[in-house]
Amino acid sequence: MTLAEQAAATQTRKADHLRVCLEEDVQFHCTTGLERYRFTHCCLPELDRRDVDLTTSFLGKPLAAPLLISSMTGGTELARLINFRLAAAAQQHQIAMGVGSQRIAIENPTVATTFAVRSVAPDVLLFANMGAVQLNYCYGLSECQRMVDLLEADALVLHLNPLQEAVQTHGDTNFRGLLTKIASLCKALPVPVIAKEVGNGISATMAQQLLEAGVSAIDVAGAGGTSWAKVESERARDPLQRRLGQTFANWGIPTADCITTIRAVAPTVPLIASGGLRNGLDAAKALALGADLAGLALPFLQAAAESEAALDTLVNMLIAELTTVLFCTGSPHIAALRQTGILQRI
Ligand SMILES: Cc1cc2nc3c(=O)[nH]c(=O)nc-3n(C[C@H](O)[C@H](O)[C@H](O)COP(=O)(O)O)c2cc1C
Repeated sequence: MTLAEQAAATQTRKADHLRVCLEEDVQFHCTTGLERYRFTHCCLPELDRRDVDLTTSFLGKPLAAPLLISSMTGGTELARLINFRLAAAAQQHQIAMGVGSQRIAIENPTVATTFAVRSVAPDVLLFANMGAVQLNYCYGLSECQRMVDLLEADALVLHLNPLQEAVQTHGDTNFRGLLTKIASLCKALPVPVIAKEVGNGISATMAQQLLEAGVSAIDVAGAGGTSWAKVESERARDPLQRRLGQTFANWGIPTADCITTIRAVAPTVPLIASGGLRNGLDAAKALALGADLAGLALPFLQAAAESEAALDTLVNMLIAELTTVLFCTGSPHIAALRQTGILQRI
């Protein structure tokens, strides 16, 4: 494939991802595991709900609430609209945001501006994004630095997506030797590197190896939400690829299990929970289990595709739900959610 053909193929794939995610059922049938937990209701919180404090910080940057708009898109005109709407909402509500894989912006610099949201999100904790496997396909420090520079990003998310690549027609499946390359990148890049899955989860063992390699934070992106095997199956023309995606539609480590097992081996690592969080109660459970930030992708995409108002409503709902959990557990701030006994396994 020539470079131009490759850039065109990446752009088609990005457009397909948005279309499939917005039009088809792309969710896991198995769950996040968060339904196995219940908060202990406090009938006398001794708090005024208006005093509940959701503020926090992540990688040294303050946030009004522990929420992240997970990495999604870029590279097409629809992606530009969505990214800029998401970024404006992140700025207005002072929550964090990631953009989708920026590989396309390196392949085709004319679409780089579809990612360049810093102009509308000057204070936002903003994450650049690339598939870690690209380190085996001619991408290195200079490309990663360009991605970070384009966004004036606070950190680079390296997503790990072996299943997605395996079920994708012409996926990039050479994951050999990547840990060493990730370690070199972490040493050389001036911003923190975050290791993230895309919906199949990160185990405690892999998290430990990634932390030893020098990543500064982990986003578990566990199973129970958007299934990339399903997304790729929906867009595949080849019957074998369609079948592969369907077979592995429910593959992965549930989000709740990722959080608890990683927290057990890495008590202080900055930890993002994502994968199937659908409301502020899910987010609160993830935080109570040990996450520092709660990330959502598909719900933000659906709202952003609808309108700025729908996006604003979604963020307000998430904040109201989170606040209500804190109020009804007698927790004045996020850290109090982690007190023993507040979240019970049922
Ligand atoms: C349309 C779409 C595009 C995505 N593209 C990326 C991407 O480029 N990089 C990445 O790290 N994750 C990507 N993801 C994965 C999400 O960041 C997230 O890990 C996953 O969808 C699970 O979260 P959810 O269940 O809330 O959707 C994408 C998700 C969606 C819905």
